[in-house]
Amino acid sequence: MSDYDKKISAFRDLINNRLGSVYSTGPNMLRDPINHVLSGQGKRLRPILTLISSELNSTPLEAVMPAALSIELLHNFTLIHDDIMDQDLMRHGLETVHSKWDGNTAILSGDAMLAVSMKLLSENNHENKAMILGTFIKGLLSVCEGQALDIEFEDNSDITLDDYINMIYLKTAYMIGLSAQIGGMISNLPCEECELLKKYGQSIGLAYQVQDDILELYSDPQNMSKSLDSDILLKKKTFVWASIDSKDDRKELDSIMREYTNNKSKVINDIKDFITRLDIKDKAHEFILKHINIANETLLNLNGDIGLLKYFSDLILRREK
Ligand code: IPE
Ligand code: IPE
Ligand code: MG
Ligand code: MG
Repeated sequence: MSDYDKKISAFRDLINNRLGSVYSTGPNMLRDPINHVLSGQGKRLRPILTLISSELNSTPLEAVMPAALSIELLHNFTLIHDDIMDQDLMRHGLETVHSKWDGNTAILSGDAMLAVSMKLLSENNHENKAMILGTFIKGLLSVCEGQALDIEFEDNSDITLDDYINMIYLKTAYMIGLSAQIGGMISNLPCEECELLKKYGQSIGLAYQVQDDILELYSDPQNMSKSLDSDILLKKKTFVWASIDSKDDRKELDSIMREYTNNKSKVINDIKDFITRLDIKDKAHEFILKHINIANETLLNLNGDIGLLKYFSDLILRREK
């Protein structure tokens, strides 16, 4: 294990440890699902990015940890509600809240998790507190807007690559950008450097969502620790759809997907053949590489030791789950 790996793994352990005691009171209807979700196998990439970013200016861990936890809680809140909307049954290797309990429990425990997240963030006494809170709220609205487009697109086969990029920017990239940006804000980096961190995270975030779309077809639920049915069942406009130019090809993909409930493995194989025929995997790889490169170029304009951030980009580039 490299020193960078050790550091990231130590950050993950610390985050997991703190998440374990973040909500220990309150009614069972909230406490049980919240602690269930937080005990799962989340990768904790967003709070790790916050901690790494704050190290550019040697900030004590305790000063930045509440914000890092707050971001991870917001992420998990969005996932509880996302799994209701996508009707998915497994997340982080565990049964989803709406499936294990019910819809009301999932709505309410998600809401409570968001409240715990905001409470943690608002308890800091940082001189930029108002700005940090404002930035965080923008991130929350961005996820809602991205999720709305994600759902609207289910019934629209004509979305373009630009529509798709806008949607994943809002639902995924914005929050990953914010994770890096807030690390910079808490460590009192100048505004220009916080903006660079934001751009770094957003570029990583675009690549990350495209990877996710592709991995969900070429990996499996055990490896990804989550259900993978919704992209096909709900006709989610993933990178696969967004990269098709011709109407006939879209029609073909649509008719392949319609058979999913009858024969899942055949449909997955047919989609893979379709992807091969249209070179979509290469296009996805090009997209991912382009945005990871933009992220790394952005780092070059930062002061301080960018080694760990560069390593973080490599980790994302190499990710297999
Ligand atoms: C899941 O995010 C939703 C996407 C943006 C693809 P993560 O893959 O980062 O979620 P964790 O690690 O399971 O929490
Ligand atoms: C990610 O969207 C959820 C959020 C960004 C809130 P997806 O629906 O594509 O992600 P998975 O596949 O459920 O993790
Ligand atoms: Mg989903
Ligand atoms: Mg979704």
